[in-house]
Amino acid sequence: MGQVVTIDGPAGAGKSTVARKLAERLGWHFLDTGAMYRAVTLAAIRAGIDLGDEPSRARLVGEVCVELTPDSVRLDGVDVSAAIRSLEVTRATGTLADSPSVRASLREWQRTFARDRNVVTEGRDQGTVVFPDAFRKFFLTASDEERALRRLDDYRAQGHTEAGDLDSVLREIQDRDARDTARVIAPMRPAADAIVIDSTGLGVEDVVEVMMEAIRRADAKVPTEART
Ligand code: DC
Repeated sequence: MGQVVTIDGPAGAGKSTVARKLAERLGWHFLDTGAMYRAVTLAAIRAGIDLGDEPSRARLVGEVCVELTPDSVRLDGVDVSAAIRSLEVTRATGTLADSPSVRASLREWQRTFARDRNVVTEGRDQGTVVFPDAFRKFFLTASDEERALRRLDDYRAQGHTEAGDLDSVLREIQDRDARDTARVIAPMRPAADAIVIDSTGLGVEDVVEVMMEAIRRADAKVPTEART
């Protein structure tokens, strides 16, 4: 197993942007686990299965192949990086993320990804369930209002004019938080040994710097050169 840094936290906290930048700074690989859940959800929608039916979900996750390359997400060999960001997929992913069989498969895919390389991973359960022995763990959050504003900006940048106004995006992320927190398997929560960072009012570089400092403190010998 390579070295692992985990970043968990709620929707809109800036995990992906921060994790990508941190991975660049360290020269490590970036693992976007939300993209994996989204890709499986896209496959389920395309296959027309009942998203809440566990036997169908178990069968589907056993049949699909999801790969993350440095700049794309692939479903059965096809680039689905844009398709997994649609509102339809965003809204349906919570249902697939509740599935025990989907979570079990993705946990193994994630561990395999980190088997022989150093990884900065982000999601909801990375420090608590998937990588309990991670080298350094963070839980990144921000106020509900700031997260809703960031999410609305993302939607607009992606051209999702049907996303609604700030109030509806706020309600949507609060619903997702409630669902992610209440989940029986792998609920979203900070690991006991995670450093909690509230990014309200902080820029991406500020957050990355706080993390770099914590990583330096954790181990002065952390490898920061070439990707392994
Ligand atoms: O971080 P994101 O918005 O791309 O995540 C998409 C969905 O996947 C969201 O509903 C939470 C879920 N998810 C999860 O349950 N566990 C993870 N490790 C990552 C994401």
